Amino acid sequence: MRKARKVGNLLAAITATAAVAAAACGGTTPPPVAPVAAHGPARCTRALDASTAPKPLALTRAGSSVALATLGGKTLAYVADEDDQAVHVIDVDTQKDLASTPLPGKPAQLMFLADGRLVVAVRDRAELAVLEPGPDPAKPMDARCSVATDAEPFGVALTPDDGMVVVTAGWGRSFSAYDAKSDAMTRAWQVALPREPRSVVVSDDGSKAYVSQAVGGQVSVVDMGVRRVVPTETHITAKAAADARKAGLLGNVSMFNLAFGGDNGSSCQSFALAKTEAPLGRLFVPQALVDPGDPNANPEGYGSPSRDQTEAADVAVLDESSGSLLLASLDTSPSAMVRAFGGEHTHQECLLPRSAAYDAKRTSLLVGCFGIDTVVAYDALATSPVRAEKRRWSVAAGPGGIAVDPAKDRAVVWSQFERTLDVLPLGGPSLIDDKGVDKVADVVRIPAAPASHPIPVSIALGRALFHMSGDERISHDGRACASCHPDGRDDALTWSTPNGPRRSIMLAGRVNDTAPFSWTGSEHTLKEHMGITFTRLQGTGGLRGLELDALADYVSTLAPPPTVAPNPADQARVARGSAIFHSEAAGCSSCHSGDIATDNEHHDVQSKLPADHTGKFNTPTLKFVGGGGPYFHDGRYKTLHQLLTDADRKMGHTAQLSPDDLEALEAYLRTL
Ligand code: HEC
Ligand code: HEC
Repeated sequence: MRKARKVGNLLAAITATAAVAAAACGGTTPPPVAPVAAHGPARCTRALDASTAPKPLALTRAGSSVALATLGGKTLAYVADEDDQAVHVIDVDTQKDLASTPLPGKPAQLMFLADGRLVVAVRDRAELAVLEPGPDPAKPMDARCSVATDAEPFGVALTPDDGMVVVTAGWGRSFSAYDAKSDAMTRAWQVALPREPRSVVVSDDGSKAYVSQAVGGQVSVVDMGVRRVVPTETHITAKAAADARKAGLLGNVSMFNLAFGGDNGSSCQSFALAKTEAPLGRLFVPQALVDPGDPNANPEGYGSPSRDQTEAADVAVLDESSGSLLLASLDTSPSAMVRAFGGEHTHQECLLPRSAAYDAKRTSLLVGCFGIDTVVAYDALATSPVRAEKRRWSVAAGPGGIAVDPAKDRAVVWSQFERTLDVLPLGGPSLIDDKGVDKVADVVRIPAAPASHPIPVSIALGRALFHMSGDERISHDGRACASCHPDGRDDALTWSTPNGPRRSIMLAGRVNDTAPFSWTGSEHTLKEHMGITFTRLQGTGGLRGLELDALADYVSTLAPPPTVAPNPADQARVARGSAIFHSEAAGCSSCHSGDIATDNEHHDVQSKLPADHTGKFNTPTLKFVGGGGPYFHDGRYKTLHQLLTDADRKMGHTAQLSPDDLEALEAYLRTL
């Protein structure tokens, strides 16, 4: 009931936002806009006198979609508005949207540098925009320069000496350090990362950078000295569990959680990061622990039927100086939250954490959760913060950024889906009464000024539904579409299903012209596939026609990942790979044919496992295959190289290829 009402509210809110936007065309004055800076040899350094410009409030040295500054007693929130492709400046006290500075594309994180410049990662344009807020916050900012990055820059952070801006590239899978003080903000060095990196923070001593990975169950620890990446698991691996048991270290970790470890358990959804201030030395990785089930079993739905929950909200804690994981932080049961809310609220868990910030005064970790549209405050010093929830606030849909205003005991939260800034009081009494019921919090809600290019209502509704965790119409245990398709892509996990093991499929840019759907190509339309999904998630169903249409619209218009042109040095190799792929000897294009590399037919490539009901699979499209993995319906191959060296005579012919040719074929696949 509670949830259904909420969706109704959301629909109303989204429709209202769109109506305001439509009205804006007819009269209301939108905030002033400045022309986007021309690309060119502009200097990145400061131009204006820093003393008259807004001052960053509590320099966090880590990006978010909202950052705070002060000017003449005003508190200003700088908001990265992805839908409007702009930075809005909102006066937190007068609750007015003062100005908007357009960007050349969709912003991910933004961050203040020590001298008051604002760095914005422009996700779909592969660049950093460097803006300079001037003395009048009601005027658009001056665009200083734009700096090229790898594909899909997302997270930004600043080293403690203010010397380097570090940037993660989600699709480009890299971590780069830029010289913050040079005229052109030159890239100093770069290292490769695993799939889907997101947020980044640098340790207080500047020796390590931590990068969250949206998929893969790990954080990447970058040694800033030797410039090397050490992956650190953020879930209990089979080996870690065995070692810890032997050493008697798992005394506190309940059996419930241990089931999330072992061979099949993993974690996912680490988009956000936060850390304490010195000398506490804790790094927080909000995430969901996942049990996708035994690949040899045939459960009724997606994942093990033997537990009533396949995912649990968690905050992994790492020691900031050593980078080691505090195993007990993976202890999620019985969570304080489940205890506090009981019965019908047990699924109001934070399964899609998307933003985080540290509140030093109360030693609280604040986490913004999509789907349940809530900010949760955890005790940051607890062994397992997720078991030590302090309070929560309801916020607008899509809380993707949080910034703390320590002077005024409040936090601001930017919620993209409703384009709203919520101001939360951090002090004061708990908002959960002794019966575990939410009290209405004193949250101030500030809508952003109408967007210049509002997104269609149906897409906005589809996006909200796609991220709707805790909606029993969609799943019995709180999972949302985005749980397995983060950012519309895939969680890199293989789920056990009634028909055998099935790896989640990347959706963004890959569902148009690729029907039939699923690994066996059993469903002919998106809606038909969604029906199977609700059944497998054991949701109660009952989405209204309008909602199903919106969900299908959203899925089919998800922006595809960027295509990355091979650099000139690689072009010859890619051409060679293409020739091999299309040759009769290799035989790939007999099945992977046409523009999207599929004949949409069924083939047996000898990949049947005992739990599989059939060995015939629909030829998958190879679009964006280089950015995915693991591969095949059961995720048996970790890398394309493994796939190519093992596939001979089962799927085309590769044994005759020299190591150079194999590399060329792989290089070609990475361009698709
Ligand atoms: C528990 C994880 C999980 C959840 C939650 C989930 N999916 Fe999937 N999705 C998968 C897996 C696994 C497959 C492959 C299924 C198969 O082959 O049988 C898939 C396949 C798909 C496909 C087919 C893509 C193609 O190219 O064939 C679409 C579309 C899709 N999902 C949309 C959704 C939507 C919409 C939702 C929310 C209603 C959702 N999924 C929720 C795991 C999930
Ligand atoms: C007989 C038809 C056929 C031929 C020939 C063929 N493939 Fe495939 N390919 C498939 C099928 C079917 C799958 C899915 C198998 C599975 O998931 O178990 C697949 C899967 C793949 C995948 C993994 C996609 C993913 O998302 O996991 C890659 C990469 C691939 N093929 C590349 C190639 C290359 C390179 C060649 C030539 C050497 C080739 N294929 C030849 C039918 C074929």
